[in-house]
Formats: sequence, C-alpha cells, structure tokens
Amino acid sequence: MPEVFTYQHGSLHAEAVDLALIAAEVGTPFYCYSSAAITERYRRFAAAVAPLGGRICYAVKANSNQAVLATLARLGAGADVVSEGEARRAVAAGIPPERIVFSGVGKTEAELAYTLDTGIGQVNIESERDLELLSRLAAARGKRMPIAIRVNPDVDALTHAKISTGKAENKFGIDINQAPRVFARAADLPGVEPMSVALHIGSQLTDFAPYEQAFGRVAELVRSLRAAGIAIRHLDLGGGIGVPYHGGPAPDVAAYAEIVRRTVGDLDCALLFEPGRYLVAEAGVLVGTVIDVKQGATRRFVVGDFAMNDLIRPTLYEAYHPVLPVAEPVRGATSSIVDVVGPICETGDFLARDRALPPVEPGDLLAVTHAGAYGAVMSSTYNTRPMVPEVLVNGADWAVVRPRPSYEALIGLDQIPGWLA
Ligand code: LLP
Repeated sequence: MPEVFTYQHGSLHAEAVDLALIAAEVGTPFYCYSSAAITERYRRFAAAVAPLGGRICYAVKANSNQAVLATLARLGAGADVVSEGEARRAVAAGIPPERIVFSGVGKTEAELAYTLDTGIGQVNIESERDLELLSRLAAARGKRMPIAIRVNPDVDALTHAKISTGKAENKFGIDINQAPRVFARAADLPGVEPMSVALHIGSQLTDFAPYEQAFGRVAELVRSLRAAGIAIRHLDLGGGIGVPYHGGPAPDVAAYAEIVRRTVGDLDCALLFEPGRYLVAEAGVLVGTVIDVKQGATRRFVVGDFAMNDLIRPTLYEAYHPVLPVAEPVRGATSSIVDVVGPICETGDFLARDRALPPVEPGDLLAVTHAGAYGAVMSSTYNTRPMVPEVLVNGADWAVVRPRPSYEALIGLDQIPGWLA
C-alpha cells in the first residue's frame, strides 16, 4: 500500500491527518482518500507509458467523486466514462471534453446525442447498432465522430468471473473475428471516423499474461485492417491492472508497459490507457466504529457501523480487504480470528471473514483498506442507511468532499401518491 496510511503517535493517519480526528468531526462510517497516493500512482503510470506515447483516460467508474476527478484532471488525466452521468461529472470536475472517451455497452440515443453536443473526444463502439445510430446522429449535426471499435478478443483475464470482460461469452465488444467487417461498414458511414481499436479484458488482473495474448491479437487485427485500407492511428488498451489486496509489492506497471511495447509498440499508434483501480484503490480507506463484539457458538463477530451497502466488494466478488485498527495495536497483543460484519439483515453482510484482529471493543475505530476504487461508487442506501460521506486529505489539509445526507433528505425522496395522502 502506498506509504500514506501510517501509524503516527499511536493512531492511523492519512498523510498528516489522524483518521480518529476525522471520525470525531464527520462521524462514522466515512471514506477517506489520499491526494498524495492518487498523485503518486498517476505519475508512476504516466511515466511508464510516456515512452510509448501513451495517454491516460482515468476510468471514472472506479471513483467518481469530483474532488478525485479534479485531482486527476490537474495531473493531466482524461476520462473514460460509461454513462452520461459520468461524463457530466468529468466535465464538471474540469476534464476537457475532448479528453473524454465514452465507452459502454448499451448507449442510449440521448447519451450519444450528448456526446456529440458536448464535444466528447471519442466514442467506443460496442455494437453495430451503436455504430449506425451514432453515425446518423452525427451526420444530422454535420459532424464526424472519431470512434474506436471495441473488440472482444476471447481471452481469459484470469480474474474473478464477475469482472472478466474479454471472453467470447461476455457481453462486451464486437467479436474480433467480425471486426474487419464492422470496420469496413464504419468506413462507409458519413458520421463516424474509425481510427482506433479498443479492448478491455477485465479488472483486477494480477497475472499479465492475458494482456500479452489480447494485445497480440489486436496487433494482428490492426495489420489486417491497414492492409484493407482502414487507417488505424490509435489503440485504446483499457484498464484492469490489479492491486495486491493480500499485501505484497505494488503492481509492476513497468512490466505492463513492456508487454505493451512488445505487442503493439511497433504499430506507430497513439496509445490510450484507462486505469481505474490502479490509480485509486490503495488511496482510500473506509473507516467505521465497532458497535459490538459478539461470540457466537463457532465464530466471533466484530459488528461495525459500516456494512455491505457501503462496500459491496467482499460480498459480491469475495474480495479481500485488509482491516486495521485505527488505534495502533500494542506490541505483542494477541490476535483472535473474527468476522468483521455490518448491521444489515443479511448473512452476506460482511467486510472480512476469518481475519486475525488484535482485541477490539465497542467504540474502537477500524479502517478497511484498498477501498478507494469501487467502494463509494457502488454503495447503496439499503436498510435506509444514508450514503457514506467522503473525505479527501491533502498533506495536513482535509475536506469533506461529499457530506452525509440527512435522514430527512434520504427519506424525503419518496413521494406519497394523492390517494394515500
Ligand atoms: N475500461 C473499461 C472499458 C472498463 O470496463 C473498466 C472497468 C476499466 C477501464 C477500468 O478497469 P480497472 O483499471 O479499474 O480494473 N466493480 C468491480 C470492477 C468492475 C470494473 C468494470 N470495468 C470491482 O469492484 O472489482
């Protein structure tokens, strides 16, 4: 984990800010992100791909808080978005529209019209319907939209089944074998300019061999498209680099860049990368308070005020997120094996299982780490739990970047129809 979450004076800090202090002022649970960690990761990725002529379009879905987007925008990032909502956030946070790529399966007509009217830089086409519709909408506006066609290379990303996207059976992209025909069709349409091949084979990849295979297939495709007279000038290589939830060294972006160089480096294409998790996962923690410690017949439960609605990844993907006490454990304290669970009425409501934790008591704070990606963005208000606030730290400064909504605001979204009033 980047060295930004450290124990100082017996308490876990984010950069120079004590998480216990934030807890006292904001209440728990809350998400806390480190600007320094995001910046360090961005720079590392950018440095690795710069020699290849690579640009970064941050995958907004990983963490779409506008303060996070603005942090990345200042570093020069573009954005990869998959909905009009994400595009609007990115624009609002200061990312220039021309540096935004609009991807995603199932784009609505309204969304495609929005991309054209806002000056979004590129649309990644995932179906022939996308292609025909975009061309029609663009031509009606007298425009030609630069497009990539996202191909499905039929490669196993060797990651969790629910976040694997590049196998033939997945809904994503256009079968790579059909791509030449679809590119030829695109070249005939008035409103689109096919100039890039895109792919994204999955998320949380820790073994990079699937990249080698997938990028190799894309290189072959580019050569055959060029032979057919279609000028491919860009490649969009997606995201997917995993982070070490179980500890261990940070992902080796230099090794990743080397695979890129070996497979597509001689094609003379401008490269675009869409990292999400790599940039933000390790930059965030979810902090909660222990409500109860409960000994069951066979297991010991630490019940926190955070829950599966705040961080769904353990439940949904069997993801492992380390849990640390905010108060530094005393040396030699004996740990016991516990399940860290939330108050939600479901057995699936856990954040960690079979985890060795030093003794904790009600009132103690716990930090769930590696929670900066796909944490807050996937949260819900299940059990009428207000959305968790988000805090951004920058050195010794910190700010609430999304406040906790009041119960009135949350409940007040419902409307009672006239016949019940
Ligand atoms: N580009 C495209 C087209 C994508 O679909 C994704 C992620 C990314 C880039 C960024 O991937 P990353 O670098 O973050 O792995 N909710 C899941 C992850 C879903 C990822 C979906 N697509 C999780 O919590 O693990």
